[in-house]
Amino acid sequence: MQRIFSGIQPSGVPQLGNYLGAIRNWVNLQANYECIFCLVDMHAITVWQDPEKLREHTLTQAAILLAAGIDADKHILFNQSAVSAHARLAWIFNCVARIGWLNRMTQFKDKAGKDRENHSAGLYVYPNLMAADILAYKATHVPVGEDQKQHLELTNDIAQKFNHDYKVEFFPQVEPLIPPTAARIMSLRDGTKKMSKSDPSAQSRIELTDDADAIALKIRRAKTDSEPLPEDITGLADRPEAKNLVSIYAALADISAEQVLQEHAGQGFGPFKAALTEIVVNAIAPIGQETTRLLQDESYLLNTLRSGAQRAQSIAEPIVSEAEKLVGF
Ligand code: ADP
Ligand code: NA
Repeated sequence: MQRIFSGIQPSGVPQLGNYLGAIRNWVNLQANYECIFCLVDMHAITVWQDPEKLREHTLTQAAILLAAGIDADKHILFNQSAVSAHARLAWIFNCVARIGWLNRMTQFKDKAGKDRENHSAGLYVYPNLMAADILAYKATHVPVGEDQKQHLELTNDIAQKFNHDYKVEFFPQVEPLIPPTAARIMSLRDGTKKMSKSDPSAQSRIELTDDADAIALKIRRAKTDSEPLPEDITGLADRPEAKNLVSIYAALADISAEQVLQEHAGQGFGPFKAALTEIVVNAIAPIGQETTRLLQDESYLLNTLRSGAQRAQSIAEPIVSEAEKLVGF
């Protein structure tokens, strides 16, 4: 069976964009692939994380994934730092990847900005750790958003160079799985910024733990303009906030943006936001409720992660030990 590796950072409470861009897709992939879902706490600390918060977010993230429909018995759910194979293979890859390759990573440039010298060395070599995450399991497919495609190409370059340097056919090439509805969900406060769990404003995002009242309030306060909804999507071209609300509606109702406009053309944002609230509450509030229930049983969550880590370890250990042998360790 083909094997998927996917990671998500426990660096905050997951938001609606994470759900539509990643989590919902992961739930669906479980039917056709052997899935390894990893809470990448080692990636999270490439930028400062308060230790207590990191522990808390790791458990919340695990609870949310379970609540959203990840099956931790049939598949594997664990946190990265619990399986030492990631760090060991990442070090080998630090020595395989070239500095020039890392210099070309656009995400580092975006994240570090002008103040490059003051970021952690971990943030810079992050793509090598991501390659190790995937190749420690010889995963065949990785679900990625547009933003991660370059990192996956680097993973394949590293696999190829390792095979070439050590004269083996050891690591496979990995294929990206681009999610079918790859709409980028934007901030509720600024339609030009993506919705993110690390945005300082909690009003900018719907968190997957928000209850119905919190969801309603955030949608009511979401930035819009005063024009009614147009008849077709060309009418949304210069209206990023309006376009975003229409995209969210379309993604959650599993219809196209055109269909949303057919149903709501001419409507102002009062009634449209009310309709949107209903759809978001129906999709998200049950996940939040189940998450709250799961979080009351911390030992269940810790045991689930521990069992996932043991099963992850049993796949990664022979692969990484073999890589270490090839290197001469
Ligand atoms: P965040 O910015 O919330 O910290 P991450 O960088 O941890 O998100 O991304 C986790 C996953 O969620 C990735 O697969 C990413 O493509 C997806 N994702 C994050 N934000 C959005 C968004 N606003 N719209 C669509 N997908 C998103
Ligand atoms: Na992030």
